[in-house]
Amino acid sequence: MSTKNKMRGKMSKANMLKSFISVSPLMLAALAFSGNASADYAGSCAGCHSSLASSDKKGSSASKIKSAIASNKGGMGSLTLTDAALNAIAKELGGSANLSVPTPTPTPTPTPTCNLPLKLINGICALTPVSCNDAYKEYEREHKNDLNEDHDDDGRDDHDDKNKAATGLVISNPGKQTIRAEQVVRLGVAASGDNRKIAVGANLPKGASFKSSYNRTLQAQQGVMSWKVPKTLAGKTIKFKFCAKVHNGKGKAKQDAQFVARDVLVKVLPKLK
Ligand code: HEC
Repeated sequence: MSTKNKMRGKMSKANMLKSFISVSPLMLAALAFSGNASADYAGSCAGCHSSLASSDKKGSSASKIKSAIASNKGGMGSLTLTDAALNAIAKELGGSANLSVPTPTPTPTPTPTCNLPLKLINGICALTPVSCNDAYKEYEREHKNDLNEDHDDDGRDDHDDKNKAATGLVISNPGKQTIRAEQVVRLGVAASGDNRKIAVGANLPKGASFKSSYNRTLQAQQGVMSWKVPKTLAGKTIKFKFCAKVHNGKGKAKQDAQFVARDVLVKVLPKLK
């Protein structure tokens, strides 16, 4: 064989390896599964019943193996194999895989655990649209201990700390807006802070919708509220509260939570004639 051909041989091995590595996880799992049964047999049974190919227990059902283990036949009682493994071994032996094994429930997509008033909305923890007030109450509760501790220290509030908590998270919205009655008012809000997940929410009037999404370019969590202003509000000014809260990562102190809120005043002009 020429050196070139040898090289080619090596190359194709490398390629085979590559294609093996790129085998989908599902296939790997399947390979591992059928591999386990013969490995289990070799490790647990072959010593007494000879190799799989020449086993004296060919055709044994899983339940038979199980009861042999349960009754410690020939010292088999020390074996610890799951029903699923026994089914697989029985299959290898050409016997019936007749132990009922609960079908594994498909691994659920991990859903984040949200602390109230954050709720799971479209897969992320977000403030429920009407919960700015509740969210603030909770934030106050979380920080009560903090404030007490400050008093214990030296009798003074540690203002620096409080400011720090308030500066990390920034919320912005138009602040003021004018709309005509019976038109749809759209109010946008954006919140940014450190690299933790932020939830934005709003105290919504009845019938309003609020959509929140993450803006990669701005690296900010955004929300848009839209609401058709009823005729009856003509001449009035309505206050909308928008808020943002930083999610505590797992294991983070509750005191690390941050909450900011900012109102938008919407002046409602009479309907156009
Ligand atoms: C320590 C030795 C030993 C090991 C390990 C062992 N067996 Fe056995 N097994 C025996 C002896 C001894 C008997 C009783 C004589 C016979 O039936 O061959 C027996 C019986 C059985 C029987 C017949 C049971 C019946 O009710 O007639 C089956 C089936 C069986 N073994 C399967 C297995 C399988 C499968 C494994 C591995 C998971 C295994 N055994 C591991 C020694 C062993």
